[in-house]
Amino acid sequence: MKALTLNNGIDIPIVGSGTNTYGKEGNQYAGALRGDTEEIDWAIENGYRHFDSAQKYRNEEVLGKGIKKSSLPREDFFITTKLNTFEGFGGTDWAHAEIEKSLEKLQTDYIDLFLIHNPWDNHTEILEAWRILEDYYNRGVFKSIGVSNFKKEHLDIILENGSVPPAVNQIKSQVGNWNEELIDYNKKNDIATVAWSPLGGIDEKALQVLEEIGKPYGKKYAQVVLRYQIERDVIVIPKSHNKNRQAQSLAIFDFELTESDRDRIAQLPGSH
Ligand SMILES: NC(=O)c1ccc[n+]([C@@H]2O[C@H](COP(=O)([O-])OP(=O)(O)OC[C@H]3O[C@@H](n4cnc5c(N)ncnc54)[C@H](OP(=O)(O)O)[C@@H]3O)[C@@H](O)[C@H]2O)c1
Repeated sequence: MKALTLNNGIDIPIVGSGTNTYGKEGNQYAGALRGDTEEIDWAIENGYRHFDSAQKYRNEEVLGKGIKKSSLPREDFFITTKLNTFEGFGGTDWAHAEIEKSLEKLQTDYIDLFLIHNPWDNHTEILEAWRILEDYYNRGVFKSIGVSNFKKEHLDIILENGSVPPAVNQIKSQVGNWNEELIDYNKKNDIATVAWSPLGGIDEKALQVLEEIGKPYGKKYAQVVLRYQIERDVIVIPKSHNKNRQAQSLAIFDFELTESDRDRIAQLPGSH
C-alpha cells in the first residue's frame, strides 16, 4: 500500500476505509448498532489497514472490536477519529471526556490521527479545542492531529496561532465538486487532503465516461475516480457494504491514467 508522509513525518496509507455506516442496521447512518463487525472484518481481510472513524458515527466500538478480533498488532493500523463538534465546543473538560471515550471504544492507548470534525462560528473556541489536540499530540497519545471541513479562514486561525500545524484537512472532494482551491491551499501549507465521500456525485453520464476511461486498464468507474485522486496525492477513504467492492477500491495501484484521462475526469459535471 502506498503511503503519504504527513508534515510531521508520520506515514498514512493513501487508501483507507470509511466507516460511517458500518455495523449499523440497514447500512444507514442513523441506524442502531447491530453488534457485529462484519464490514470491518471484510475490510481487514481485503487488506485495509487505515480506517476513518468519528465520535459522531457512534460506532468507534465496532472498529475497536474488529481490530482486536483480527489479532493483528495495533501498530499495523492507522486509525483516524474525530471530535464531535457538530453542536459546537463543550469546553475543556467535555473534550477530555470525549477523547477518553474514543480511546476506550477503540480499545487503544493512542490514535494515529485525531481531527476536529467540523468548524463552528467561534474562532476563540476553535483555537481552544486545537490546544487540547496539541496537548495530546505532545504527550504522544495522538500521533498526528488535523481538521475536517475547515475552509481557508478556519485553517488560518490554527496556522497563525497554533504551535502544531494541522497534518490533514479532511474535506469533500468528488466528481463535479473537487474542491480544487482548498486542496491547493492545503498543499501550499503542507497539509494533506483526505477526500470524504470520494465515490459520491457520479450520475449515469459520468459513470459511463469513467467506465470508458477504465476499460483499457480493465478497471471500473470507482477505481478510476479513486486513482485520479491518489495520483495527485489526495488520500481517499471509500466505504462499501460489499466485500468485493471493498476489494475493488483497493485494487488501484497497477495502472496509471493519461493526461487526457485526467482532463476528462477533472471536467466531469457532478450530480449535484
Ligand atoms: N469528515 C466528514 O465530514 C465526512 C463526511 C462524510 C463522510 N466521511 C467519511 O468518508 C467515508 C466515505 O464516504 P461515504 O461513506 O459517504 O461514501 P463513499 O465512500 O463515497 O461511497 C458511496 C457509495 O459507493 C458505493 N461503493 C463503494 N465502493 C464501491 C466500488 N468499488 N464500486 C462501486 N460502488 C462502490 C458504496 O455502496 P455499497 O455499500 O452498496 O457498495 C457506498 O455507499 C465515510 O464512511 C466517512 O468515514 C467524512
